Amino acid sequence: MAGGNFIAPDGGEYPGKLTRYVAITCIMAAMGGLIFGYDIGISGGVTSMTPFLQRFFMSVYRKESLNISTNQYCKFDSQLLTVFTSSLYLAALVASVVASHVSKKHGRKLTMFLGGLFFLIGAVLNAAAFHITMLILGRILLGIGVGFANQSVPIYLSEIAPYKYRGTFNVLFQLAITCGILLANIVNYGTNKISGGWGWRVSLGGAAVPALVILFSSIFLSDSPSSLIDRGKAEEAEQLLKKIRGVDNVKAEFKDLVEASEASKKVEKPWENLRKVRKYRPQLILSIMIPSFQQLTGINVVMFYAPVLFQTLGFKSNASLMSAVITGFVNVCATFISVYCTDKYGRRVLLLWGGILMCVFQAAVAGLIGGKFGTTGVTTVLPQSYAILVVLCICVFVAAFAFSWGPLGWLIPSEISPLEVRSAAQCVTVSVNMFFTFGVAQIFLKMLCGMKFGLFIFFAAFVFIMTLFVYFYVPETKNIPIEEMSRVWREHPHWKKYVDDDDADSKPQGKPAMEMV
Ligand code: BGC
Repeated sequence: MAGGNFIAPDGGEYPGKLTRYVAITCIMAAMGGLIFGYDIGISGGVTSMTPFLQRFFMSVYRKESLNISTNQYCKFDSQLLTVFTSSLYLAALVASVVASHVSKKHGRKLTMFLGGLFFLIGAVLNAAAFHITMLILGRILLGIGVGFANQSVPIYLSEIAPYKYRGTFNVLFQLAITCGILLANIVNYGTNKISGGWGWRVSLGGAAVPALVILFSSIFLSDSPSSLIDRGKAEEAEQLLKKIRGVDNVKAEFKDLVEASEASKKVEKPWENLRKVRKYRPQLILSIMIPSFQQLTGINVVMFYAPVLFQTLGFKSNASLMSAVITGFVNVCATFISVYCTDKYGRRVLLLWGGILMCVFQAAVAGLIGGKFGTTGVTTVLPQSYAILVVLCICVFVAAFAFSWGPLGWLIPSEISPLEVRSAAQCVTVSVNMFFTFGVAQIFLKMLCGMKFGLFIFFAAFVFIMTLFVYFYVPETKNIPIEEMSRVWREHPHWKKYVDDDDADSKPQGKPAMEMV
């Protein structure tokens, strides 16, 4: 199989155990995913609440309540409504560029702290919003928070976790994302029932809770050893390494980290290197393709718009929110499969199985919706058994994403790059992810209106393509120390030609060539 299992590297064994300290540190840091998740889950629910629509999106409300559109597919098509959902992701995209500099210069810890702070201010603004401008401004601040958190947390986890458990600990970030989504779905379900029409304020203001969690967690965290060494704090880093690995003999790992940092210092222009130097081509391509594909699975159609989607299918408002809670619950549960399997069976097998299941069940959703609504979108009542079948197929799709592209879409990019280009590559990942998240959020309602059930075929086709991509181009990275990752490319049937070449093109820009491992 192309890019199959990697045999343990020579000298790859660092002494150390899984300490309670490292476990607690990783769990606290992973909480950074909560803010991202809460946000993903909250907007879809809020935008299906009548008092919220009446206050900020009157035209959508009218269209929906007066049933001006008889076409189910086009009921919710409003540009303003999508700007509300998607503005956050544009802000996150821009913020991740700033965050990558902050992370490189001032460390992962401060970057996480700032993420929590921006998110907190955004939450307060949103809860107090009396005008659409305030609402969008709040969304932008939330987006900045997400950009900072998603830039720093996955890298931090990959750097601090013992390499044999890197997958498991990194997946905790995704677990926190899914818990955030579920929490938001439950909050929406509850606040929708508040009479007086201010439930949406509780939903939006609730974002302050995950913000405070990451804010306080980041205060108590230590920075990662790599980042400390990179910022000239080698002694502190060595002490920390002893503490997190639970042994005094950390020489081998410390030496590798120092070497990686020295190599990193020789690279004056990480961005230019990542872009131009041939040997970083595999990392660059995967840092772009993995987040693009993650979003092109169409997962956020369900995550953002589940309540809207279910209403489109003819569910009542409350039943729609309940269905979102169900998909949110499935999302959390299936992520545990990945927590358990990522380091045991590897990344590739999960991605391949996830891809196959997603493709089949998305096609099934397309068939079921098409079968009932056809191309006109005009229908009478959706029979209950039929509706249950649709929800069931959506749940299998969500579960397949949750154990594959969800967590691995963040894990793989965070572990494949050498220190000198790590922050830059992570920035590419976050930006591309946010760009496509923005795109899907922005055009989904339009696409649903235009492509109808074919929209699900469209995403299923992408899932098929990405599964082939995984088969041929994504190498197995389980159980490989992060500083030894360059071996993976050298042994890969496709990527080896980029790293084997010793021509001038492969030398880092700025200083003389260096040895990478
Ligand atoms: C993705 C999000 C998605 C979430 C669903 C994350 O990994 O980046 O876009 O909404 O998973 O659980």
